[in-house]
Amino acid sequence: MNAKASLQGRRGALGNKKEKKSGKIAKQMKMKINSIFHDYELIDCGNSQKLERFGEIVLIRPEITAIEKPKLTESEWRKLANAEFIETSKNSGTWKIYREIPDKWQIKFESGKINIRAELALTSSKHIGIFPEQVLNWIYISKICNENNYQSFLNLFGYTGLASVAAAPFCEIVTHVDSIKKVVDWTKRNAQNSGYHNLRCITEDALKFVERELKRGNKYNGIILDPPSIGTGTNKEKWILENKIDDLLTKLTQILEKDSFVIMNLYSHSINDKFIHRLILTYFSDFIIDFQETIFGLSSGGNEINHGYFVRLRRKG
Ligand SMILES: C[S@@+](CC[C@H](N)C(=O)[O-])C[C@H]1O[C@@H](n2cnc3c(N)ncnc32)[C@H](O)[C@@H]1O
Repeated sequence: MNAKASLQGRRGALGNKKEKKSGKIAKQMKMKINSIFHDYELIDCGNSQKLERFGEIVLIRPEITAIEKPKLTESEWRKLANAEFIETSKNSGTWKIYREIPDKWQIKFESGKINIRAELALTSSKHIGIFPEQVLNWIYISKICNENNYQSFLNLFGYTGLASVAAAPFCEIVTHVDSIKKVVDWTKRNAQNSGYHNLRCITEDALKFVERELKRGNKYNGIILDPPSIGTGTNKEKWILENKIDDLLTKLTQILEKDSFVIMNLYSHSINDKFIHRLILTYFSDFIIDFQETIFGLSSGGNEINHGYFVRLRRKG
């Protein structure tokens, strides 16, 4: 299925009877992200690693879902790569530099009115400022905001803000929330470099922020949430997805306009189709499912990695 077709797919929130009975709800979508996001390429993957190109820069990073045998040899990977992330402990490590690499560089994504300039940099957590598969959400956000003239958008767990920048040309104000100041500052630079000044950037715990918005009576036409399995709020609040997601969604649904959409990305290993279906039935029974699939990114050689669950829901007021 191509990206366009998948964006148009429609199913009722309850799924059909067969799906309900079997508990097998989410479908799979395999795609070469490079076919729509040309500055990015998954060149190869396998042996728990991935070889990716971001603009001119090629990196080797750990990838737990890369379970196949790579198509290229180890020496071919090394020849292509500017740097390789060497994990020293869980979620941290150092970069081994093979070829010259700038401290910061930019890549772009342009499509219709979307204009994203993403600043990238090597960090000690293996991440570099972008999750390229999110391009699918950027396109959806632009389409739905444009078609419905939505003016208020909230990005929870927003990281470096590329989904916020994607929404910026369509909305009067885009609210961006992350608990880490460094990535909120990164978001401000991404917005500025992309030419937007309508982002409200907030360093706060996502759940606390939603609770405050509920008290203030603020509402949104669109919310994206891409929560990690484990995270930390600004005051060391522990975020454990399985324990907190219900509380978050209970409150989040109350700060949605009647006419609204929600995008959820979920990666946790302990999450399965049933868990997601329960969340949808419990909190979004009056929404239509626009999309509910596990996304697999295909490398140029045809190997795959798993990007997790992508769920898109919408409701007409
Ligand atoms: C998977 S990343 C999100 C990636 C983002 N959707 C994107 O496309 O670039 C998860 C983010 O959640 C943030 N985070 C973790 N715990 C949080 C919390 N309790 N409140 C707010 N943000 C949190 C992290 O700082 C991180 O930036």
